Amino acid sequence: MKENDLSIIILAAGKGTRMKSSLPKVLHEIAGKPILKKVIEAAKALSPTKIIVVYGYGGETVKAKLSEEPVEWVEQKEQLGTGHAVMQAMPLLGDSSQSLVLLGDVPLIESEMCTPLLKMANAGLAILSCSKENPAGYGRIVREGGRVKAIIEHKDASEEQHKINEVNTGIMAMPTEKLKQWLGEIDNNNAQQEYYLTDIVALAVSEGTDVDASMTTDEWAVAGVNSKLDLVTVERQFQQRQAEDLLSQGVTLFDHTRLDIRGELTVGQTVSIDVGCVFEGSVTIEDGVNIGPYCVIKNSTIGEGTTIAAYSHIENSEVGNGCRVGPYARLRPGTKLAANNHIGNFVEIKNAMIDDGSKVNHLSYVGDAEIGKQVNIGAGTITCNYDGANKFKTIVEDNAFIGSDTQLVAPVRVTEGSTIGAGSTITKDTKPNSLTICRANGQVTINGWKRPVKQKKAK
Ligand code: UD1
Ligand code: CA
Repeated sequence: MKENDLSIIILAAGKGTRMKSSLPKVLHEIAGKPILKKVIEAAKALSPTKIIVVYGYGGETVKAKLSEEPVEWVEQKEQLGTGHAVMQAMPLLGDSSQSLVLLGDVPLIESEMCTPLLKMANAGLAILSCSKENPAGYGRIVREGGRVKAIIEHKDASEEQHKINEVNTGIMAMPTEKLKQWLGEIDNNNAQQEYYLTDIVALAVSEGTDVDASMTTDEWAVAGVNSKLDLVTVERQFQQRQAEDLLSQGVTLFDHTRLDIRGELTVGQTVSIDVGCVFEGSVTIEDGVNIGPYCVIKNSTIGEGTTIAAYSHIENSEVGNGCRVGPYARLRPGTKLAANNHIGNFVEIKNAMIDDGSKVNHLSYVGDAEIGKQVNIGAGTITCNYDGANKFKTIVEDNAFIGSDTQLVAPVRVTEGSTIGAGSTITKDTKPNSLTICRANGQVTINGWKRPVKQKKAK
């Protein structure tokens, strides 16, 4: 037996019938992450020697979705109870000194809550318990003279025991050797005819092994997800925690209940975020940034002093300092705004680098492009980057001025200081510091022309 050698067993074989979904329960997401992945992350933070996931229903889908995780998978073919589930992991436990059991449907569990259990479990059995105002459905921690005697499942409990508020969270730690021994001794003589893991408590007590319960007051951290209502309730709770964390960092939130973070949001000082924003993946917001309402920002960096106005969508982009983006702007993957750029309404940018001080203020598409410094791109300008088969690049050099409704047919280069007259279709490189204009015909006036009038319908 090795010292401080921890195995973590995550029970995740339950079908999750009450989710009423074809998606396995543990693949439902909290803050954009499968529930089971969140549990695995808490487990990893404890630096165990191994993590074993006991799977059952929808196993192949679960394994495929979490194939990158450093866990060993073991199947529980029939769900005969939590004790039976842990038995399936026994062959993999090897000679580890300690085992910790986590539940695959408790997404907000924190590794810090398990640390005291691991200390207690050096010699005996440690249980994470929780005081619940409404303990119905949970296993009750039965104490005598303050000492834990047993866990009695709700369905097996007496009326007197139903009044106990201290419940079993399902999370336990113990010496692995003991666990193996106890599992060999449990049976299914109970109301549900299941092999209860919780029965090991009475076994430990009867042989004189120390049993202790560490009680948490954080109900949410140990809340299980069994239904769609549980899922959304836990989601809101988690989002509230993240919002409170932002507030404590000094971020101004216009409404801390209308904000969703599905990933990691890193914020600087004096940042404000209006209502309805969604942050996904890894997002960094630097000092002095204001984010308007209903923005969706994914895997991006927003530089100092930049304002992102309402309804802007930004993905895999870098927005530099002092920019103004939106309202209604869309920055698609590969957008790089250097600094002091203005990107206005109904502008789409994709895979384009836009240098210092350049502006694209209205109704334009700039894709696969390099735009220099102090360039002005007029309303309705389009980079025609795609010929239906291949993509080509547009280069616009410093100080160019592009008139409204210009099509830049790539590959093409607008050279330094060029001006392009409105409505031009540019297919050839321009000359520096000159005006290029290209229109189908000159302006024509048809004198005496009459507007069409509405024809009368025949009766
Ligand atoms: C269990 C505990 C109960 C505790 C409660 C906390 C037992 C007997 N009871 O009850 O004391 O208060 O959790 O939520 O342990 N699972 C399997 N295989 C099975 C059965 C369950 O993998 O055969 C997994 C489930 O997927 C789930 C976890 O174990 O992740 C708990 O199972 P569940 O059926 O929800 O247990 P409860 O009856 O709620
Ligand atoms: Ca449960």
